Amino acid sequence: MAEDTNKEIMYSETRSLSSQEAEPKLKSESETEKKQTSLSKLEEENQYIQQTLVKVLEETSALREMFNAANNELQNLKKPALIVAEVVQVMQDKAIIRLPNANKFFSHISRTVKDLRSGDNVLVDQKSLNVVEKVNTSSNFDVERFVIIDKPKETWEKVGGLPEQIKEIKEVIELPLTKPELFEKIGIQPPKGVLLHGPPGTGKTLLAKAVAQSTNATFIEVVASELVQKFIGEGAKLVKEIFDYARNKAPAIVFIDEIDALASVRMENGTSGEREVNRTFMQLLAELDGFDCMDKVKIIAATNRPDIIDPALLRPGRLDRLLEIGLPDEKGRSEILNVHTQKMNLKKVKLDELAEQMENFSGAEIKAVCTEAGYFAIREGREFVTHQDFFDAVEKVRWVDEDDEGGVIHG
Ligand SMILES: Nc1ncnc2c1ncn2[C@@H]1O[C@H](COP(=O)(O)OP(=O)(O)OP(=O)(O)O)[C@@H](O)[C@H]1O
Ligand SMILES: [Mg+2]
Repeated sequence: MAEDTNKEIMYSETRSLSSQEAEPKLKSESETEKKQTSLSKLEEENQYIQQTLVKVLEETSALREMFNAANNELQNLKKPALIVAEVVQVMQDKAIIRLPNANKFFSHISRTVKDLRSGDNVLVDQKSLNVVEKVNTSSNFDVERFVIIDKPKETWEKVGGLPEQIKEIKEVIELPLTKPELFEKIGIQPPKGVLLHGPPGTGKTLLAKAVAQSTNATFIEVVASELVQKFIGEGAKLVKEIFDYARNKAPAIVFIDEIDALASVRMENGTSGEREVNRTFMQLLAELDGFDCMDKVKIIAATNRPDIIDPALLRPGRLDRLLEIGLPDEKGRSEILNVHTQKMNLKKVKLDELAEQMENFSGAEIKAVCTEAGYFAIREGREFVTHQDFFDAVEKVRWVDEDDEGGVIHG
């Protein structure tokens, strides 16, 4: 059927051609011109179409590139994130890694990962937990951000009372830092640090700062409760970095305040928070064991609750020196009063009498009395402070103290 129709078409075309041949000559010339113009038109069109085609092809390749890029991005977004883990031990092409939740795994190391060492941070695949990449976190950087590092201004003159404690802390901390040769000659090893304990506001922080000032050591202050709460999962690592930092900046004193938050006797209730505290504490013990007595790094820890401190911390070779900083006696109170009234404009103030009245006051409360007395004078428009101002201040601070245990701010 299709062949028949083709034949018919061909036949009609030959017929029309033969009929054209039959036309007069003039007419055929104008026809040729017409055809030529339409031919050139068609050629023009053809050229134009070809140009457009080139453009379209270019556009297509640009669009293809865009599509590929978007597709890649989409694929990346669909990929599961990698877990940041810590390498505990490397064994040829495998490693023991520790995840942030403290679970440990034995994983393969990808061939692209080179020079892995324990303590490094790595990225591991979520499903297989294999190490796929090493991440470089600059150490020390964290430490500087998270702990207070300075050269304190407090001098021994600012400490009132506590003569025995000052003597002991000088022997334990100051002497090994300033005269290490003394210990070498005699052949003994000085303690690595000291644990100060006593009620709030009795001058523990003050003592630590004063000894750092007198030895010109870098003072690194860490609050143990912050170490545990703020840097969940990072506590142990931060402890390690703090000690690395201290060694770099030696002579240095690492002051760990509120150490009971970290070193209280373990309850073993197995919660992840508990494990975290334990891990941080174990790291602290490891650091204490790890450094040499003659390293120019000393540790001062402070607590209000020596009764709950884990004995592991107090074993020989760790913080085996305990120093009690108790409430000041009358002589101590009078010395503390002297320290804090030194710059005050006093008129007929009997400091000894006041010291007698302030039974059971801590150093911080005595300081608060001085401030309050100053306020009484200001309120009455005076430029000097009288004995009565102090008397009223003592009553006020005592009243605040009895009314509310946390009423006085201990710095
Ligand atoms: N013995 C002291 N001599 C002079 N000032 C003192 C003395 N004890 C305490 N103070 C004053 O009280 C403030 C608070 O003392 P400090 O911070 O040393 O107490 P703390 O024992 O560390 O208390 P906490 O256990 O609450 O941390 C000090 O800044 C200081 O001004
Ligand atoms: Mg303190």
